[in-house]
Amino acid sequence: MRVIVVKDPQTMGKRAADLIQEVMESKPHFVLGLATGSTPMPLYKELIRRHKDEKLDFSTVITFNLDEYVGLKPTHDQSYRYFMNKHLFDHININKKCTHVPCGIGDDLEAECLMYEEMIEDVGGVDYQVLGIGSNGHIGFNEPGTSLASRTHVTQLTESTIKDNSRMFAKVQDVPTQAVTMGIGTVLDAERVVLVANGANKTKAIKAALEGPITAMCPASALQLHPGVTYVITEDCAKGLTIAVER
Ligand code: GLP
Repeated sequence: MRVIVVKDPQTMGKRAADLIQEVMESKPHFVLGLATGSTPMPLYKELIRRHKDEKLDFSTVITFNLDEYVGLKPTHDQSYRYFMNKHLFDHININKKCTHVPCGIGDDLEAECLMYEEMIEDVGGVDYQVLGIGSNGHIGFNEPGTSLASRTHVTQLTESTIKDNSRMFAKVQDVPTQAVTMGIGTVLDAERVVLVANGANKTKAIKAALEGPITAMCPASALQLHPGVTYVITEDCAKGLTIAVER
């Protein structure tokens, strides 16, 4: 496990972009797994800057997002499809048809989940998966207690995640209580993973994920099983870690 500790979120975005760009430029049909939330935003800003200033080319890139709220249309300003368009896809030369976000509306979400898994498999799997982390250790929307072998599924959000994410909504009652998420097993199938984190509210989850037991009670701890994971985290998040880190 590589752990890179950086001084601020901007540097976190740059270091994560470096990791992704290196693999992206070596593969003709690069498959990028994407995350939402405020943490990956400096990374997306940096990818946009590299596209604009350095001609970083996304024309053949395929993307799969981790998750989506159940019940929000793609046009809803809190849907993860809307977020991705606004913060990344609208600013780079990606073919929108090659960008995938799980579908959170419809009568048969189970079938949608199966289809999502098949689409990922059909393109040969994810080359680089971007992850954030919830303050309770969740990745995607895999809440504590989710099977480490889970695949894309519909999940119930915990009180703590609803509370954390309510800052984006007018009131807590507006936060959907369910989501569609890639499973932990789906995430572990990616060739490489970069997890970004900043802020003192993530310190406990980062310590548990990196140094605690591998347990479904901290979904991110499953990444200890994966040989290709890099954490890029800020100083405040790295407080109290005893494992070796790079700076
Ligand atoms: C949501 C997303 C996660 C994300 C988490 C943390 O729950 N489903 O993928 O990692 O929020 O968000 P933030 O980066 O805003 O703290």
